[in-house]
Amino acid sequence: MSTFKNIILIGAMGSIGSVVLAALEKEPSFTITLVQRASSKATMPAHLKTITVSNSYPTNELIPVFRGQDVVINCMTSLSVADQFRIIDAAIAAGVRRYVPSEYGLNNTRRDAQALNLVFHDKGKIQEYLRAKAQSGVIEWMSISCGMWLRWSMANDFLGMHIGERRFVFWDDGEGYFSCTTEENSAQGLVNALLAAGTDRDDWKNTNIYLSDFAITQKQLLEAIERIQGVKYTTETIDSYSFIKEKQAAVAAGDVVGTFALIETGFVTGRYGGHLEKEGEIQNDKLGLPKKSLDEVVEAALKAYGDI
Ligand SMILES: NC(=O)c1ccc[n+]([C@@H]2O[C@H](COP(=O)([O-])OP(=O)(O)OC[C@H]3O[C@@H](n4cnc5c(N)ncnc54)[C@H](OP(=O)(O)O)[C@@H]3O)[C@@H](O)[C@H]2O)c1
Ligand SMILES: *[C@@H]1O[C@H](CO)[C@@H](O)[C@H](O)[C@H]1NC(C)=O
Repeated sequence: MSTFKNIILIGAMGSIGSVVLAALEKEPSFTITLVQRASSKATMPAHLKTITVSNSYPTNELIPVFRGQDVVINCMTSLSVADQFRIIDAAIAAGVRRYVPSEYGLNNTRRDAQALNLVFHDKGKIQEYLRAKAQSGVIEWMSISCGMWLRWSMANDFLGMHIGERRFVFWDDGEGYFSCTTEENSAQGLVNALLAAGTDRDDWKNTNIYLSDFAITQKQLLEAIERIQGVKYTTETIDSYSFIKEKQAAVAAGDVVGTFALIETGFVTGRYGGHLEKEGEIQNDKLGLPKKSLDEVVEAALKAYGDI
């Protein structure tokens, strides 16, 4: 049994927060408290304690909320990850033992990834901040790098997939490798790593945990979709180098959505640390996660999309 008992979850009704919550709730030893923004429209589960804080997560409001808590798990939305500097400061001041940042991506400690878009940049800086704090002994941390979620990607027209239109967009030759983990394995990996705390298997303290069910290319992804649906897609190709220039200029001019195109580019080109097998040791087996095949995951994602 984990030495962690009291768990705070931020962003509990989000794409990954809801899956993390389901995994946490399977553990009867955890007492879960949710933190929600004042302007949130989410309906929180009535059987759990929810505490409302101001939208910007002010440190002074969070300190009393975090007191007596062992772990803060953050599943907040991409564009707000820099708010975590204030949240981490509150966790340290309140004596929280372990912080799990909103990460769930690629190797954001890479300078080239940080230079590609603001979200990779801010996530990388948050990791650097946590590393420094852990070195001075005031808090532990761990983060999950899981590559892409195919179900989320399909629902959000990501990775070149436009399922409804039977259209697929390749970045360059479509041969860049990127790792994928299901939402469920990402969440279960997080929970299993927490459960190891305080045991002789506590191997994930102060580390970025690399998860991958498999690494694929865009070409392999399209082949799987066409094989499972039994239809042919129309394809297009974009040049990643000019696309990056165009989107970075658009973001600089105020186009917020352009950041998501740059995030996507970070994965599909294979150039920015999204092929996790190349970046570090994959922990799926050590964390006891079930194996998933590409076809099984694509089929489930198509079902969730409602197009199979
Ligand atoms: N690997 C992948 O394929 C993948 C895909 C998508 C996202 N991600 C990553 O996973 C993490 C979570 O992303 P997500 O898509 O799950 O998040 P999301 O669903 O967009 O949002 C999660 C929660 O963030 C909270 N939040 C905090 N500040 C907010 C703001 N200014 N506007 C809106 N919501 C705000 C909200 O909680 P309350 O309403 O309860 O306050 C919201 O429910 C991010 O780090 C993201 O980059 C990874
Ligand atoms: C992640 O990127 C950093 C910076 O480029 C690199 O030093 C490190 O080896 C990469 N992988 C891991 C497992 O940290």
